[in-house]
Amino acid sequence: MKKVITYGTYDLFHYGHQRLLERAKELGDYLIVGVTADDFDKQRGKINVKQSLMERIESVRTTGLADEIIIEEYEGQKIDDIKRMDVDIFTVGSDWVGHFDYLREYCDVIYLERTEGISSSDLRSKKRNVKLGLVGYGSVLKKFFDESKHVNGIEISSIYVEKDDEKKFYKNNNLILSDSYETLLNNCDAVFIVSHIKKHYSQIKRALNQGKHVLCESPLTLNEQEFIELKNLANKNNLILMESIKTAYSTAYNRLLLLIKGRNIGDIYSIDVTCTSLREHDEYSRNSIGSWGPIALLPIFQIFGVDYNNKTINSLVSDDDFHYDLFTKIDFQYKNSVASIKVGNGVKSEGELIISGTKGYAYVPSPWWKTDYFELRFEKLEDTKKYFYQLDGEGIRYELVAFAKAIELGKDNTLIEYNISRAICKIMEDFENDNFNRIIRY
Ligand code: CTP
Repeated sequence: MKKVITYGTYDLFHYGHQRLLERAKELGDYLIVGVTADDFDKQRGKINVKQSLMERIESVRTTGLADEIIIEEYEGQKIDDIKRMDVDIFTVGSDWVGHFDYLREYCDVIYLERTEGISSSDLRSKKRNVKLGLVGYGSVLKKFFDESKHVNGIEISSIYVEKDDEKKFYKNNNLILSDSYETLLNNCDAVFIVSHIKKHYSQIKRALNQGKHVLCESPLTLNEQEFIELKNLANKNNLILMESIKTAYSTAYNRLLLLIKGRNIGDIYSIDVTCTSLREHDEYSRNSIGSWGPIALLPIFQIFGVDYNNKTINSLVSDDDFHYDLFTKIDFQYKNSVASIKVGNGVKSEGELIISGTKGYAYVPSPWWKTDYFELRFEKLEDTKKYFYQLDGEGIRYELVAFAKAIELGKDNTLIEYNISRAICKIMEDFENDNFNRIIRY
């Protein structure tokens, strides 16, 4: 029996795919089709695949051409599959000519003529692009600007840069440099806001009132009631209001959460999170709790929930005109566990995340919020398990894909739950209302 194998993504299954599978089948007696897993596609740079792995497998299955369907999950798997399943012929479309010649050591390699005039990318780009306006300043704005180029379905239509010395960076980029937030809103379907946190509430409200979807750097507001009001407004106007914390979209972080939920390190009793960076502070600066608080709180709220019994906030504050929190520490007490965050823009420390359980602990090295690597460690050193996942664009790319998808489906698909966003705003509110222990640094 002659065994043939072929691989592909098969997103939005089309005539070109059908023809390829028909001809692959004719090459032998038994056809194996490898469908690429979402994570593996992301690593290869295909991050905007529209259909889920299950939907894509289902499309291949319904052709009735595959005798066996497998999932392609890692680099180098083709050689393993060919050897393990005793494959005679490997085949793919002519767009890959030469690329798989290295497999000739294991089986025949045949490139079939690609069907002209159709591709998944074409079908995807026919869907209308979301015109995104960017407002704010700083390095996050630049990162979003750069990352948006990698995401199908989103196009930056205009930008309102709030800091004069940053404007030149965006000139000559073929986009409208708006001179006010008002003109920005007139030139887009959705906005990404990364301005001063004190402006978030009014900017989100204006956008929602003008029928624009909003992605806003966390925290959404500095007040719990304002958060509820904005969420209600978004629902009433059928708009997406999504909170931006890029870490929530990083593959390694999500895999870590799944392992924790799968009780790989037992019951969790303690979480310690640290996020710091040294920055000068001026009137544009976000304070330490505003810039780092949401990221640091995320693992605690996602693992322990938001119903803590008690919290204590201690903050070292500058004695200048800004009363800037150089370093803030929050300790949480839950019914059965404890947690703490340490954040600071005026103090440097090791930016690690440690989740301690009854069987072992998870260790995510600095800077944990943009990690591609973590370890599960146990009593015996030799039991340590190491995990590595590719991280592209610090998670921003996947976040933009999620935002575009939410707009397309008309449905919130954020990875940060409503209660968590609300609890983050509550912490910000306590801070704003001076509900914390202030230690002045002279
Ligand atoms: N294929 C083909 N003719 C086309 C499109 C795809 O023969 N018009 C073949 C590819 O060469 C590959 C298989 O179908 O062997 C699966 O391709 P896949 O990458 O899933 O589809 P594309 O439409 O090429 O997707 P994209 O535009 O995302 O690259």
